[in-house]
Amino acid sequence: MKDILTLGIESSCDETSVSVVKNGREVLSNIINSQIPIHEKFGGVVPEIASRNHVDVISTVTKKALEEAKIKINNIDVISVTYGPGLVGALLVGVSYAKALSYATGIPLVPVNHLEGHIAANYITFKELEPPFLCLVISGGHTHLIHIKGYTNFEIIGSTRDDAIGEAYDKVARVIGLEYPGGPKIDKLAKKGNTNINLPEPYVENFDFSFSGIKTAVININHKNPNINKADLCASFEKITTDALIKNTKIALKHINKNINTNSNKINKIALAGGVSANSYIRDKFVEFGKTENVKIYYPELKLCTDNAAMIASAGYYQYLSGNIAKLDLNAIPNLKL
Ligand code: KG4
Ligand code: ZN
Repeated sequence: MKDILTLGIESSCDETSVSVVKNGREVLSNIINSQIPIHEKFGGVVPEIASRNHVDVISTVTKKALEEAKIKINNIDVISVTYGPGLVGALLVGVSYAKALSYATGIPLVPVNHLEGHIAANYITFKELEPPFLCLVISGGHTHLIHIKGYTNFEIIGSTRDDAIGEAYDKVARVIGLEYPGGPKIDKLAKKGNTNINLPEPYVENFDFSFSGIKTAVININHKNPNINKADLCASFEKITTDALIKNTKIALKHINKNINTNSNKINKIALAGGVSANSYIRDKFVEFGKTENVKIYYPELKLCTDNAAMIASAGYYQYLSGNIAKLDLNAIPNLKL
């Protein structure tokens, strides 16, 4: 079969990224222009500034991605772009750029859901990974347990009822004086602390999560005890939230397998995805959990956990194979569902 080269374009939040991926799994280039230094001083992403920066750099990032892959635009078979969920102004930059590129070259355009991209990051890291499996998407905007039934066939089993786990990490970090994005800083500081601070267990029910209670509890404890050991607070926060993630994942896996009669068809693979899956404590605890439950745990290499276009190109490849081609009226959908 002829190789299929996909150009992926991602601009849903504060990373402008363009990538060339061969046959959905082999990354030929993955250029990521992060705006973190620009938004850091505001303590979070400022939507309009993000959009303007995407406009500034998207052409250069695309040129670099093609150059590094040593591919001319006319040799690309598919253009895939994130059209949601995300910040509308930021998404529109990538969507408009991809539409213009597709119109000018005649290359088919494929729409990609950002979450689907996060899931697909695992296909790049693990060439042998195939559906079905259970995926826990943990990012700045989402906490989803998803039954991956096929490459383009998903069933959401549970999700957060309020804050996403990444949001809780970033908020807690901000309150204790760590810079945006706080997740990686909590990860680092927690390694120096003990899990000795009593925190309320996050609410977990019917496969759903809630993290606003634990976020508020940590903020209150920190407020009442300004001299509290921050490393201990980070370690305790990390432990109690990871316990909740594992507890719910375990229940969801049982639930899916209950409806599968043949033993050999039961799901024994769990993939983590999204920015928070870069967390070293979460990774280690899931691997331990996998060993005790006899389940294989997957997570993408670090660079592919946070936003990047290689994951969008990979997901776009599978959408292309399933015949999902966008028309030129494709629009950004900020609250797009899977
Ligand atoms: O997937 P992502 O890049 O963007 C969204 O789609 O939301 O995720 C960003 C989130 C941020 O909340 C960031 O703090 C968190 O991922 N994050 C981490 C780590 N690295 C990134 N959280 C915990 N530990 C990390 N090592
Ligand atoms: Zn993301």
